[in-house]
Amino acid sequence: MTVPKRLFVKTYGCQMNVYDSARMTEVLAPIGYEPVSTPDEADMVILNTCHIREKAAEKVYSELGRLALLKRERAAEGRKFMVAVAGCVAQAEGEEVRRRAPVVDLVLGPQAYHRLPEMVTRVTRAGGGVVQTDFPVESKFDHLPEETLTGVEGRGISSFLTIQEGCDRFCTFCVVPYTRGAEVSRPVSEIEAEARRLVALGAREITLLGQNVNAYHGLLPDGSPASLAVLVERLATIDGLQRIRYTTSHPLDMREDLIAAHRDVEALMPFLHLPVQSGSDRILAAMNRRHTVDDYRRWIDKLRAARPDIALSSDFIVGYPGERETDFEATLALVDEIGFAQAYSFKYSARPGTPAAALPDQLADEVRTARLERLNDRLKSHMLAFNRGLVGRTVDVLFERVGRREAQLVGRTPYGQWVHVPAPRALIGVVTSVVIEDAALNSLSGRLASSIAPTADFFGARA
Ligand code: 5AD
Ligand code: SF4
Repeated sequence: MTVPKRLFVKTYGCQMNVYDSARMTEVLAPIGYEPVSTPDEADMVILNTCHIREKAAEKVYSELGRLALLKRERAAEGRKFMVAVAGCVAQAEGEEVRRRAPVVDLVLGPQAYHRLPEMVTRVTRAGGGVVQTDFPVESKFDHLPEETLTGVEGRGISSFLTIQEGCDRFCTFCVVPYTRGAEVSRPVSEIEAEARRLVALGAREITLLGQNVNAYHGLLPDGSPASLAVLVERLATIDGLQRIRYTTSHPLDMREDLIAAHRDVEALMPFLHLPVQSGSDRILAAMNRRHTVDDYRRWIDKLRAARPDIALSSDFIVGYPGERETDFEATLALVDEIGFAQAYSFKYSARPGTPAAALPDQLADEVRTARLERLNDRLKSHMLAFNRGLVGRTVDVLFERVGRREAQLVGRTPYGQWVHVPAPRALIGVVTSVVIEDAALNSLSGRLASSIAPTADFFGARA
């Protein structure tokens, strides 16, 4: 009998890492690893890392410091403890990770996680360390077991499905083209099969993931290429799949057929994360974004014409090298003009090896911090205004899990906000009409819209 080994995976960064973590957990199941929820309970810890901004990598190294102590304690008890670093820090730093943190046994890039069992076995048998950060010729997706996990992050009523990886756009600030490599799209039939399996496991919403997901151009079974719009239309026919989302997109890849899909495909949610990064043409050009602010406006106009209630989200970088006060004010003006329902803002961080890191006019940290605060305040006021605009309205909520309060469920609106609602457990996984009663910055609350008021029994029976 094999003794079950316990695995703890900690995920940093984007949703694609969340998806990869679920897949790594699945790949290790056949050799006896079972997921646990803290490093203290584990025999193996994988840090699935992010390299997009400075702090992300720093956090990994401080976590590795803590794990070194844990490994020493285990060694004193005569027990083995394995540490792996996966993801984009692993890809970018390779051997350097083991030099800086000797506690690490395995280093593997995002394209290599199908090789984990073999790497783990090698370290267990022979000791020493293994580093695997080349881009293998075979696709990891061809070597992964079928999905079995539910209830882990990124798997459940709302599940993630990576359809595209890498990026060919080379924005000057970004490490993704170097850590994740060239853009590769998975074939349509493979994605459809995975989506069906996720629905069979209970998924009602699938978020299609890719570093530049709207550049998707996977092949159909007849060998012809399919756009993201074609893929979405096909997935929308899967029985039981009620909601489809996709993230993250580059404005230049916002094609007409995808905009039309927002009008025509009911399952495609009225929400779009379309990063603009800056409201200044000068900065957009310097970033190699290859479009103007006016182009962005036009895409938004078309999207709103196709789907008038579409909620928009964006990423912003403040303090890009050479950003003047007037450039920054142009960003604030664009924020006011578009009125984003959701947004993420980042202080520019020079990433080693990217063209922007070599520019002479890097801004002082005080300037970047002050601009970030001003932008955040502005974004928050728009987010709150959007959420408040939903108060009194009836919206469809897909319930995903129980809430903290008794007899409360938590679900999401079509626009992506979390909603807390007194409701019976039987509604988990069901799209239900909810009247929004209150709105804060990060969540909403409401009541079931059903005309029959639920009785105490209705709650008691199933909650
Ligand atoms: N500095 C700050 N933010 C960055 N992003 C990407 N690279 C950097 C960087 N060097 C942000 C962008 C991107 C998001 C995922 O992270 O806004 O859209
Ligand atoms: Fe990075 Fe996105 Fe630009 Fe690609 S499109 S280089 S992932 S910011």
